[in-house]
Amino acid sequence: MIKVLFVCLGNICRSPMAEGLFIHHLNAQGLADKIDVDSCGTGPWHVGERPDRRMQQTADAHGIHLPSIARQLRDDDFHEFDYILAMDSSNRRNLMAAKPPGSKGQVMLIRDFDDLGKGEDIPDPYYLENQGFEQAYQILQRSTQSLLQHITHTHNL
Ligand code: 4NP
Repeated sequence: MIKVLFVCLGNICRSPMAEGLFIHHLNAQGLADKIDVDSCGTGPWHVGERPDRRMQQTADAHGIHLPSIARQLRDDDFHEFDYILAMDSSNRRNLMAAKPPGSKGQVMLIRDFDDLGKGEDIPDPYYLENQGFEQAYQILQRSTQSLLQHITHTHNL
């Protein structure tokens, strides 16, 4: 089983949407028994919460199910997950600082997989107006598709 973890700050906006979209792609391509997915946040503030209501509304509008209940990043994640995707460069810095030496988790930026903004951040929508949520959805729709292509190609799935 290949394991993929999406990481943002609060685990109530961006990474739950990334997780929901990735599950959607896995189901559409019949890969749900080969690739496992989860999400978490580097911060503790929203542990136990369902996704932000505004992100939930955006997901509903696009027919995407968000199963996430917020949890915080833990050291074991770096040993358990093969691909660890940061939503922005601040998340990536926090991940690199927390990564135990020798752990297998490969830390990358999700927009490394976005042809329309390679290496850029997904702006944190939490303090933005509603358009920030739709924008995050659009970026994640592209990036998660392309990440899945990368993984299936790398592992001959
Ligand atoms: P997320 O958004 O990292 O995309 O889940 C945020 C949610 C909450 C907070 C920050 C970002 N917060 O500071 O509470």
